[in-house]
Amino acid sequence: MKIYITRIVPQSGIETLKFEGFEVVINPEDRVLTKEELMVALKDQNYDALFCLLTDKIDAEVIDSFGPQLKVIANMAVGFDNIDIAEAKRRGIVITNTPGVLTDTVAEHTFALMLAIAHRVVEADKFTRAGKYTNWAPMLLLGNNLSGKVLGIIGLGRIGSRVAHHAVKGFEMKVFYYDVKRNEEFEKEFNAVYMPLDDLLQQSDFVSIHVPLLETTKYLINAGKLKLMKPTAYLINTSRGPIINEAALAYALKNKIICGAALDVFEFEPSVTPELLALDNVILTPHIASATEETRSKMSALAATNIVEALEGRVPPNILQN
Ligand code: GLV
Repeated sequence: MKIYITRIVPQSGIETLKFEGFEVVINPEDRVLTKEELMVALKDQNYDALFCLLTDKIDAEVIDSFGPQLKVIANMAVGFDNIDIAEAKRRGIVITNTPGVLTDTVAEHTFALMLAIAHRVVEADKFTRAGKYTNWAPMLLLGNNLSGKVLGIIGLGRIGSRVAHHAVKGFEMKVFYYDVKRNEEFEKEFNAVYMPLDDLLQQSDFVSIHVPLLETTKYLINAGKLKLMKPTAYLINTSRGPIINEAALAYALKNKIICGAALDVFEFEPSVTPELLALDNVILTPHIASATEETRSKMSALAATNIVEALEGRVPPNILQN
């Protein structure tokens, strides 16, 4: 069996594949291949599986460049909006992702962002490095507490639920949530309240987004929705960039329609809307919410396990059913 990996990934995945005796070919350049480059790399090579990343756009043309022996596409990410699932299914190709292993890490990063924006950590760091800390002052760089505040969670999947857990158990926050479906067991356990999106936006002090990118979630947060939020509220996004209309968010931050935002993902990733770069009331991290040594290693191993299971005729643990 022959596998193509689109980028250098943690060794755990490569070892898992090699242990099975599979031939592993890795793009040696540490950068995202263009679609044309990827197609050239795949053409006439008879790969049985593709190990890819969220930065690889896998559409019908890319799938065509493999030839008919392709059996599985394993994304080393929980999100899979980069893959044309319908097209892959039509050709009987199995698609897998890597849920679960990154839940804690993304929830932690969500809190890193929430704490950093509310306590103005990045601004304060810049201030100190600039030599501006000459006097302690009672009103210097005042931020806001998380404790006792309302956290509105949009999307109560694995990550959203974990964020809710930390909010309630760690910070005694009140949790409101919005999702396409209600979870009454969760409501009981965390004393959480289900409500429509608009109500959640109006009543939350912090809003954290944890939905997948779908046609129905693109621009879920637009100018109108931002206007519903409290002028004191913060918006956190560790899901996918296009869920927020970034131009509308930049306008809202600049004009103090909301107090602040912290983003790990961007609408036109890796580009960032230039207006955001000039603002102090937003924190920007480069899509690293799952980027810890442990978690990226587990993601790599899990993507490889999905490939092994599919190629050896078993049902992979993370097969996508939709
Ligand atoms: C990261 O964004 C992922 O989907 O795993």
